[in-house]
Order: sequence, then structure tokens, then C-alpha cells
Amino acid sequence: MKIGIFSTPSEASAKAAELVIAEFQAGATNFGVATGSTPDLLYQNLRRAHQLGTFTLEGKRAFALDEYIGISKDHPESYRNVLRRALVGDERTGLREADLHTPEGTTADPHQAARDYDRSIAAAGGIDLQILGIGADGHIGFNEPCGDMHSRTHIDALTDQTITDNARFFGGDPGAVPTHCITQGLGTIMEARQILLLAFGANKARAVMEMVEGPMSARWPATVLQNHSNVTVLLDEDAAANLQLRELHQKRWEMQQ
Ligand code: PGA
Repeated sequence: MKIGIFSTPSEASAKAAELVIAEFQAGATNFGVATGSTPDLLYQNLRRAHQLGTFTLEGKRAFALDEYIGISKDHPESYRNVLRRALVGDERTGLREADLHTPEGTTADPHQAARDYDRSIAAAGGIDLQILGIGADGHIGFNEPCGDMHSRTHIDALTDQTITDNARFFGGDPGAVPTHCITQGLGTIMEARQILLLAFGANKARAVMEMVEGPMSARWPATVLQNHSNVTVLLDEDAAANLQLRELHQKRWEMQQ
């Protein structure tokens, strides 16, 4: 893992945008996209680059990590709608609606929808660059603790922690947050050719420490990334606060720049 530590989320997100733009200029076609607050500034930078003509997702494909089960298609917080607002259209990043892929969360058979989604990623040739956030409980996508470390796209139940954390998107009401989701599995995520994980804020410091320096364990699902050969982690100071080997991470980062 390459670990970059920045003063602010804004600086880390500018670096993230630089890396994404370089990958697409070098021929990447399939973009794995995360939701939540963490990638907001990254997507803002990508929209700006699109306006300036230095970046486009026109003719590229985007695949979401996850989707809530049972959320109505017109709910503003369905991940399809969140990603549509962030990325789709000429005034955003040039991504076409038909090229935005999200798991089908409203079907009668979500298990089948999960299998179909996994197959659609493989059929497109796999993800070139996957953006990830991390949950305070160490989840990536919605792979909550103590699941199968090799899982494919599947249904998971959300932890109380995740429901509490996400209540802010549902008027502050945890009871309004869907309880289940379809998520790319850890095995699916691990097949992405390159992974860029962003984490900001003190709420993520424990999960970041476990992911970077802890033993690999299903208790902290993001630790599976220790076994991937092309992961970049961009942190702000608060999210990096619990790292014990900070100096070593920084020396390695500087060597690689
Ligand atoms: P957040 O969520 O970006 O809203 O903090 C990250 C995650 O749950 O993966």
C-alpha cells in the first residue's frame, strides 16, 4: 500500500483527481465509483477538469460499489441517483446514463441481481481503477465485518454503526436508512487492477490504522487490501492520526513521487 498523508481533504482529493485523470489519459475505461461523502471533492475536481477539457468519462463505463435494497428508484439517496448527480451528463463528467452501472436494488430477486451485477463487471473486462471510502467499522463497499473475505457481489445487512453514520443522508433518522444492500464482494473489489482509497476525519482513524497496520482479518474488512499489489491510500491528518509507522509510510510515499 502507498500511503499519502495530506493536511486537508481538499489537498488529498486534488491528488486523487490527478491520479484518476492520469489513468484515464493512459487508456483506462472502466471506473469503479464509490458513494458517501468521502469522494465528493474528488468528483468536484473531475467535473472541473471536464469543464476545462482535460478529462472526460464520455465513452467510458462507471460501476458503483453498492446499492441499498428496497430504496425507491426516485429516492434522491439511491446510489444510482447520487452518482447520476455527481457524474452523468456533459455538464458533469461526460459519462452517459447508459454507461452508469449500479446493482438493481428494487428487484424481487436481489440475489440474482447481485450475481448479474458481478457478471456485468467481468463481461465489461473488469474495473481498471476503483475508488473506495472506508466505513468507521472498516467496511469497504458495504462489506461489513466478519464476512467472507473472498465474497462476490452479494447481499449484506448494514451494521448499526453504518446505519447511524448514514442517517445524515436520511434527514437524521436512522429508522429511514435501508437495512440491507447489494455490494460488490471483497473478492470482486480485489479484482480491480488499481485501487484508490480515500479516508478523512477522526471517525476513520481506527479503521485506517487497522487497514494499514493491523493484521489481516475479516473483523476489519479493509485489511484484505493488504493483499492487493496496487493500492493507494490518501488520508487527511485526522484519519492518519492513529498510524504508528507514519514516518516509514511518509518516506516510502516520497520515494514513489
Ligand atoms: P463516507 O462513507 O464517505 O460517507 O464516510 C464511506 C463508506 O462508508 O465507505
